[in-house]
Amino acid sequence: MEMARTRKHHKASSSVRGREDGRRRGALAASDAVLSIGLEGDSRAPLQRRIYHALRSAILARRLRPGDRLPSSRQYAESLEVSRTTIALVYEQLRAEGYIEGRERSGTFVATALPDDSLVALPASQRAVATVKSRPAITRAAPGPKSPVVSGAASLSARGALLASLDVSSSISSTVVGPRAFRLGTPALDAFPYTLWGRLLARRWRQFSASQLAYGSANGFAPLRSAIAEHVRTARAVTCHDDQVLIVSGAQQAFDLVARVLLDPGDTVCVEDPGYRGLRSAFEGAGARLVPVTVDAEGIDVATGVAFVPGARLTCVTPSHQFPLGITMSAARRLALLQWADNANAWILEDDFDSEYRFRGRPLPSLQGMDPHGRVVYVGTFSKTLFPSLRLGFLIVPTVLVDAFARARAVLDRHSPQLEQAVLADFIAEGHLVRHIRRMRAIYTEREARLRALLHEGVGEFVEPSQADAGMHLVAWVTGGGSDRRLADLADAAGIAVAPLSGLASHRLARGALLMGFAAFDEQAMRRGVESLRTAWLGGRGDAFASHERHR
Ligand SMILES: Cc1ncc(COP(=O)(O)O)c(C=O)c1O
Repeated sequence: MEMARTRKHHKASSSVRGREDGRRRGALAASDAVLSIGLEGDSRAPLQRRIYHALRSAILARRLRPGDRLPSSRQYAESLEVSRTTIALVYEQLRAEGYIEGRERSGTFVATALPDDSLVALPASQRAVATVKSRPAITRAAPGPKSPVVSGAASLSARGALLASLDVSSSISSTVVGPRAFRLGTPALDAFPYTLWGRLLARRWRQFSASQLAYGSANGFAPLRSAIAEHVRTARAVTCHDDQVLIVSGAQQAFDLVARVLLDPGDTVCVEDPGYRGLRSAFEGAGARLVPVTVDAEGIDVATGVAFVPGARLTCVTPSHQFPLGITMSAARRLALLQWADNANAWILEDDFDSEYRFRGRPLPSLQGMDPHGRVVYVGTFSKTLFPSLRLGFLIVPTVLVDAFARARAVLDRHSPQLEQAVLADFIAEGHLVRHIRRMRAIYTEREARLRALLHEGVGEFVEPSQADAGMHLVAWVTGGGSDRRLADLADAAGIAVAPLSGLASHRLARGALLMGFAAFDEQAMRRGVESLRTAWLGGRGDAFASHERHR
């Protein structure tokens, strides 16, 4: 079969050659290069996956270069003796992930926006953060404000009092009228396919029988686990079987389960500094000792950071798109971290919360997919790809841990709601998730550029926004030594939500910054937001830039 495919490809490519004129010889050579690419991977794997892997590898290895033309789905299907639909689906997947792009009336091409190197260097303005670097002190991570949020705290257990003291501010006060500009972490809910979701929901509900209203599996709804496994194997290069996938109520519950199953109170955990407060709170709430480790231009510092933390049981990272700085962890750091975990008999938590939204640069494979030792616990969430109130996410755990995690979940709250899991399974299996992500990526590319331009125009004397290559927020560096906290306070008083970077860091920053979500806001909302910022900051200028108040 494989040989027949190769023979046929020669025939197909020479007949194409005859039809093309000299002007298009460059593009033709590229098409030929594609036609000569074989299949990749396990021969028992579906053809679609093998073709997808072969093309993706060729693009990543630069055997196919940005701008190279791909053959039509008909030509390619003929040369491989597969159905045209198979090729169309492969192209659709690659297009959704940003590897290839369609140009009107001229065909399909390798995406021009692929950079030479996946290791995104920090712009000079961000490098300032990386310069404040030292061996980590064993301390608790910067705690959030410890306000007496629960009255009658004297009657709480020590654990209850600890939980009540942790920072979960944004989760406690729900946003009844929608998110305030420029709140972090909210996707474009205005562009969510409500009608489609409603149709899938109604269809599932009609199909539901009495048995499906009874208790389900603590691991999650089996078709959803398979659909997720299939999706992350292709979209994120995760290596897993379906039964390593456990459905949870979002990333937050995944963090909590990891703490319960893998840690004892007092155990040491390395976290990124600056980093995600929700994750820190989950581990602090479990009684872990957090060690913040500085993030530099290559990601978390392994050699002089993590490796110097005695007895660390776990390191938590966001390698594909560091939260909040947006750094991509370098290949060298990834390998060093995996080696550390193996040597130290420790675990790595990979929080892959928003990396599907990469609009510039190469879509990077997961750390989990590079792990030969079975030390990575991978966490994914649908809060960003779909909507946060869905409360569905997933864990992909090494096989030896599956049973322990499922049992812990059963003790905690048994399982996630079955109906929503079934609807989500259909949404993924029928191709809607990939299409939705592709649509969102286009919207976010536009909104990111728009917000950056509006900030330059409106408040350029206060902040210097840097370009975000992925995700849903950008980092706006404070100019002239101003205090990011003070600017955030002034914004808050004017009804605008911007998060100060110093609030997510436990060390003193060389330069403050504001984190601003762009995904959820249309141009009008952004304009209004930036105007409010300008008024607020002009009014409080002296205050925010007083030298004694710098970013801490
Ligand atoms: C770094 C990071 N991880 C995970 C999450 C997702 O959390 P959840 O799935 O609990 O909504 C977020 C949400 O803002 C985040 O910023």
